[in-house]
Amino acid sequence: MKILVTGGAGFIGSHLVDALIEKKHRVVVIDDLSLGQKRNLNKKAKFYRLDVQSERIEAVFKKEQFDYVFHLAAQINVRKSVADPIFDAKVNIIGTLNLLECCQKYKIRKFIFASSGGVMYGDTKIIPTPESQPARPISPYGISKHSVEQYLGYYKKEFGLDYTILRYANVYGPRQNPEGEAGVIAIFLSKLLKGEGPIINGDGKQTRDYVFVKDVVRANVLGLTKKGNLYNIGTGKETNVIELFEKIRQLGNFAAKEKHGPALRGEQKRSCLDSSKIRKEWGFRSKYDLTTGISETLEWFKDRI
Ligand SMILES: NC(=O)c1ccc[n+]([C@@H]2O[C@H](COP(=O)([O-])OP(=O)(O)OC[C@H]3O[C@@H](n4cnc5c(N)ncnc54)[C@H](O)[C@@H]3O)[C@@H](O)[C@H]2O)c1
Repeated sequence: MKILVTGGAGFIGSHLVDALIEKKHRVVVIDDLSLGQKRNLNKKAKFYRLDVQSERIEAVFKKEQFDYVFHLAAQINVRKSVADPIFDAKVNIIGTLNLLECCQKYKIRKFIFASSGGVMYGDTKIIPTPESQPARPISPYGISKHSVEQYLGYYKKEFGLDYTILRYANVYGPRQNPEGEAGVIAIFLSKLLKGEGPIINGDGKQTRDYVFVKDVVRANVLGLTKKGNLYNIGTGKETNVIELFEKIRQLGNFAAKEKHGPALRGEQKRSCLDSSKIRKEWGFRSKYDLTTGISETLEWFKDRI
């Protein structure tokens, strides 16, 4: 199969490219390298350094004749989306529409979209949260992801473009950028390996569902052969920041003490995804527990810091 991966020089996208190439697919990457790194790029993938909003995207579709498109390129920073919602919407909504127009014109078989379960459900009482809960995104980033989900319904109805939305929980693993605002595991590991004590925002009781990148990639690859439009991808396990810090400290034998800073305004208190739908329908479940996933991530960071 000929497959396009947008954002294929980024954290999750580059792991997906590796897995697809391993399965002998022909892979093309579109990435503007705004956050992604050339060194993440698999040498067997063909690379176009392009913004997803570019008019030149259509020429790439015409030339390459893709069978499938995985769309992971995005403005991923929630705080940046609050500071500059227009930029967020341009990349995440207009950029995606640019791709969808090409997908329907060049008769792509399926569009697989990286959405976010972490920002989709807001502060709900139903935890772990299933897909059947209403979407209540509270940031421009969450709203842009939700808008694309709505557009996908439209492109299917209007043009027959098949799609799968995967709503990821908090993804972690090798190659995650520790300079970002989200990846708390990458941030903690990189600080601890540099001998700096990380700061826990607020009381550290805020919980997240941490899913290892290789599990997320496996779900994406299944999307090539399985049917269905909307799935959460998580572990169903809630971990708070203090527990996470303790686990990392133990696994890496770090001496740093727990230090707290001010709470982030408006930060969601709890988030955890119910992923039983994909288990029932696709037979998929995440395999990595936190200990195994963090250990693998730690080894990767050790070699680079
Ligand atoms: N990391 C998580 O926990 C998480 C959770 C939910 C959803 N997601 C989604 O998964 C996808 C991948 O996220 P990631 O964590 O790997 O982030 P990442 O920043 O490592 O990857 C995003 C990639 O997109 C590229 N990109 C950004 N803007 C672009 C543009 N205008 N044109 C072309 N390329 C552009 C970047 O250079 C980068 O390589 C994103 O869509 C993100 O919203 C991530």
